[in-house]
Amino acid sequence: MIVAIANQKGGVGKTTTAINLAAGLALRGKPTLLIDLDPQANSTMSFLDIATVQRSVYDAIADPAVKMSDVIVQSPVANLFVAPSRIALAKLESKLMGEIDAHFRLKDKLEPVRKQFPQIVIDCPPTLGLLTVNALVAATHLLIPIQSSYFALEGTDDLLETIEKVRQRPNPSLQILGVVITMHDKRTSLARDIRSQIKKVFGGKVFKTVITKSVRLEESPAYKESIFTYAPESTGASEYYSLCEEVIDRA
Ligand SMILES: Nc1ncnc2c1ncn2[C@@H]1O[C@H](COP(=O)(O)OP(=O)(O)O)[C@@H](O)[C@H]1O
Ligand SMILES: [Mg+2]
Repeated sequence: MIVAIANQKGGVGKTTTAINLAAGLALRGKPTLLIDLDPQANSTMSFLDIATVQRSVYDAIADPAVKMSDVIVQSPVANLFVAPSRIALAKLESKLMGEIDAHFRLKDKLEPVRKQFPQIVIDCPPTLGLLTVNALVAATHLLIPIQSSYFALEGTDDLLETIEKVRQRPNPSLQILGVVITMHDKRTSLARDIRSQIKKVFGGKVFKTVITKSVRLEESPAYKESIFTYAPESTGASEYYSLCEEVIDRA
C-alpha cells in the first residue's frame, strides 16, 4: 500500500495525518516508510533533526545516480523510516521541466524499495504541481484530509479533476481510500453542518473517524514523537488509532 496524503490547501492536517498514520502503521510491526514531498519539510522535522539530513528525496528524484535507499533514514520510532525533504525540493519543478518521465520519477525510484516497505505514506505539499502529481502516480491509494471549516470544500473540485486526469493515464488503479475530517470541534453546530456537507460530496468515502482539535497533536512534533508515544491517552491518539484501523480495513 502506498498512500498519498493530498489536498492542495495548506494547513488542513496533511502532515499531522501523514506522521501519525505512518507511526500508527509502524506500531503494528511492519516496516513503514514516510516520504516527505513538501519542501517545508514538516514531516521530516517531526521525527528528525533537519541539520542531520544529508540527502533528501529531492536527490533521489532529481539525480538518476541516487537511489531511494540512499536517502532513507531510520527514525526514532521503531519500524518507521523517513525519506526526508529539504527546501531544494522547491526547485524540482524547474529541474524536471521538459523531462519525458517527469511524472514518473517517484514511482520508478520507489519500485526497488516496495518489498522492503509494505506500507508507504507520502506527505504532499500544498499544491497540485509536479510533486503532488508524482505522488499520485506512485500511489495505490489517496487519503484526503479536509479541515472542518467554513471553506472546507473550496478547491476540492480542482483536486478531484487532477485525480481524474491521473486516473485516465498514468495511474488508472489509483483509489480514493477516503476523506478524513480534521480539526473538528464537536461542540459547534457549524462543525456539524460542515460534516454533513462533506458527506454529501464524498458519501461513503468519508471515514467514520473524525479527528478533533487537540493541542497534543500540535505539540508532539516539537518533541520528535508521534501522538502514540507523546500522549498515548489523548483523544488524538485514539482517533488516529481508529483512523489507522479504518485505513487497513479499506486498503
Ligand atoms: N487535530 C488537530 N488539532 C489541533 N491542531 C492541529 C490538528 N491537526 C493539525 N493541527 C495543526 O494545524 C497546523 C496545520 O496542520 P498540518 O498538519 O501541518 O497541515 P498541512 O500539512 O495540511 O499544511 C499545524 O500547526 C498542526 O499542528
Ligand atoms: Mg504539511
